[in-house]
Amino acid sequence: MEPPVILGIESSCDDTAAAVVAGGALRSNVVASQRVHAGFGGVVPELASRAHQRLIVPVVEEALAEAGCTRADLTAVAVTYGPGLAGSLLVGLSFAKAFAFGLGRPLIGVNHLEGHLYSVFIEGPRPPRPYLCLVVSGGHTQLMLVEDGLRHTLLGKTRDDAAGEAFDKVAKLLGLGYPGGPVIDRLAQTGDPAFRAFPRTRLDGYDFSFSGLKTSVLYYLNRFDEAGRAALLERHRADIAAAFQQAVVDVLVEAVRRAVADTGVRHVAITGGVSANSGLRAAAEAAAAQDGFTLYVPPLAYCMDNAAMIAVAGHIKWEAGRTSPLTLTAEPALALS
Ligand code: KG4
Ligand code: ZN
Repeated sequence: MEPPVILGIESSCDDTAAAVVAGGALRSNVVASQRVHAGFGGVVPELASRAHQRLIVPVVEEALAEAGCTRADLTAVAVTYGPGLAGSLLVGLSFAKAFAFGLGRPLIGVNHLEGHLYSVFIEGPRPPRPYLCLVVSGGHTQLMLVEDGLRHTLLGKTRDDAAGEAFDKVAKLLGLGYPGGPVIDRLAQTGDPAFRAFPRTRLDGYDFSFSGLKTSVLYYLNRFDEAGRAALLERHRADIAAAFQQAVVDVLVEAVRRAVADTGVRHVAITGGVSANSGLRAAAEAAAAQDGFTLYVPPLAYCMDNAAMIAVAGHIKWEAGRTSPLTLTAEPALALS
């Protein structure tokens, strides 16, 4: 049998993306990051869905061309159907349904979080199952156990802000741009993480909470009047960024180490936008060396939202015979449990 050729489509937030995976190997990966949101300090849903409409056809065409394949070569069309912004999801999903229907090929609905779980299968060493996966992004922070047969168990998740959301909000407090994660990461490299001890919230089990940390940065800044705050930021912006980042990293790495000790599973993946963080990568590598587990972090391009991970998850679902009906609807609050 010919190896399956899967087109993956991702449009859950502000990235319009398409990728082709043939026989499980990535052949193309195209992401059009929308620039329309930059001046707003966050994603504007209405602008995002309009931009997806403009970009979806050229992005898919480019992914096919880059992969050197035609529509007729496709075995199936995989698409994110949730969670995400309703208007954004609808563009990718409606396009994928029409495309699959027109080609007479099956549709494969993919949970965006499944994409992040399997993003370690795009390139580089692949973890054997079962493995632990910490998904840390702008919308999600959850620790999962990934088993064979597309089974996953939720070990814990955030009860309030996602880790990436905390980065974005604290960046705003520090007068930095959006998205805040990469800016804080860069700034933190020149700061002193011991400048201030921001709180590390440790909950029962593996749940996380980052809103207290964010509020504590806010309260700290509010102790000063406007001139004092400006002076503080002038001198210590990098130190505050480093101290905040260290608190997030400590909480995440501590949970991972505990999960390894409790479950005995010695393969750990860290994925999602925040897995691009250099402090988190370094701390997780140090923990892996110390505790004797193997760490898998995707290359930077596959940490952020992308369609390669949707195509790879689509490939895994295809192999398991898991296709979806054309009646599939967008599910903005879709969970992965
Ligand atoms: O996975 P992703 O692209 O989208 C979601 O599914 O949410 O993650 C985006 C998030 C943003 O909050 C962004 O600030 C954060 O990932 N991020 C980072 C870094 N790069 C992106 N956070 C910390 N350090 C980074 N280097
Ligand atoms: Zn994501």
